[in-house]
Amino acid sequence: MRTLIKHVLAATAPVDRVLVKGWVRTRRDSKGFSFIELNDGSCLASLQVVVDASVPGADPLQRFTTGASAVVEGQLLPSPAQGQKWELRATRIELLGAADASYPLQKKGHTAEFLRTIAHLRPRSNLYGAMFRIRSRLAFAVHQFFQERDFVYIHTPIITASDCEGAGELFRVTTLKGQPGEKPEQDFFGKPTFLTVSGQLEAEAFACALSNVYTFGPTFRAENSNTARHAAEFWMIEPEMAFCDLQADMDLGEEFIKAMARYALEQCAEDLAVFERFVDKGVRERLTFVVERPFVRVPYAEAIEILKKSGRRFEFPIEHGLNLQSEHERFLTEEHFKSPTTVFNYPREIKPFYMRLNDDGGTVAAMDVLVPGIGEVIGGAQREERLEALLENMKQHHLKPEDYWWYLDLRRFGTVPHAGFGVGFERLLMFLTGMPNIRDVIPFARTPGHAEF
Ligand code: 4AD
Ligand code: MG
Repeated sequence: MRTLIKHVLAATAPVDRVLVKGWVRTRRDSKGFSFIELNDGSCLASLQVVVDASVPGADPLQRFTTGASAVVEGQLLPSPAQGQKWELRATRIELLGAADASYPLQKKGHTAEFLRTIAHLRPRSNLYGAMFRIRSRLAFAVHQFFQERDFVYIHTPIITASDCEGAGELFRVTTLKGQPGEKPEQDFFGKPTFLTVSGQLEAEAFACALSNVYTFGPTFRAENSNTARHAAEFWMIEPEMAFCDLQADMDLGEEFIKAMARYALEQCAEDLAVFERFVDKGVRERLTFVVERPFVRVPYAEAIEILKKSGRRFEFPIEHGLNLQSEHERFLTEEHFKSPTTVFNYPREIKPFYMRLNDDGGTVAAMDVLVPGIGEVIGGAQREERLEALLENMKQHHLKPEDYWWYLDLRRFGTVPHAGFGVGFERLLMFLTGMPNIRDVIPFARTPGHAEF
């Protein structure tokens, strides 16, 4: 039976017979034998294999080039070499798949841009192997966080007829051929449908039945913003809680980010060290800080005052009633507060229809969690649970009540205060690893003009 290299390297005593399979990272030849670094992706480290040219399958050793796949059977013995505990003395080796000199991952030090063009091979590199192991571990941590708190996981639909965020950044889903005279009623679903921009509205229906719920799935936005923080397809985590106000919503958001930072530090230490070494020297320190200190909380109006008084020249204007831009968010978290910051109570005009109107009549119970290096990682709100107020909001946003009849029903039948938020999973991963571009924390990125692989 094959053993994962991760488990082989964790051995506490020599093992007589070990069978491993993996890809050759490097080979160094000596007189009559070679050292092969074999990696199977189960962990960062490779296993050093010592192959005598005379063992079955070894001849000629030159076939075992970088990128080739191989099976090795041998004896696990303490390694005399520095920096590694074990090495595998091969008793048999077999070439599974050769790789010729055109294998693109021969040398170290490729740029992130180049590696995006070979996204099918980049997980074989140390950095991207670490990235996608961390991504998997963190996805598990997300579920653990909510399951431990009795949240119910809801699979909300990917195809939807409603535009939750009202931002119009929708991908159409259609079976129509685009021929003249075709009517929307002839379409597959009998009406226009889109890829979801958020599972929130459906999550609200379930929160108003099961109390605490969350979604975690792919989300789509046809935003034509070619930035390092926007993808057209990304994963969003959306908790929604019944009998909950903005205060408790902000508390959960903060607790969530802290729990993810703690999980990365404690459970992904080996992989995180790669990021500390090659991507972001301060990553571990930053995460420790995040775990230990309370986040800053500041109302939007106060944030605007701080920005106005900063004496900074920003590209985008700062004015009450305008959205905070990424440069403003980063100033607040990186320079002013030097801390993750939750901004709340935004002007109603710049937020979607479902947010709860505050008593001041001008702001809504919205909150965004901003973090250094990224800006907004969480966006959330207490929802408008009063039918009349919601109808008024929809009117102001030019939405037809009949399109949202079922959403309005939630206010007609046993309405309750409720709140929730959405976390961009990729932005969270960028924050946890220090990776500066969203294209490098998702296996196969979808951005304007790019849908390769
Ligand atoms: O702030 P947003 O638009 O909020 C919502 O969609 C709410 N319905 C969530 C809720 O309350 N249930 O998006 C939430 C988060 C953002 O804070 C950001 O982290 C991420 O989703 N996000 C993106 N991530 C990558 N690429 C994009 N184009 C993103 N747009 C939003
Ligand atoms: Mg937002």
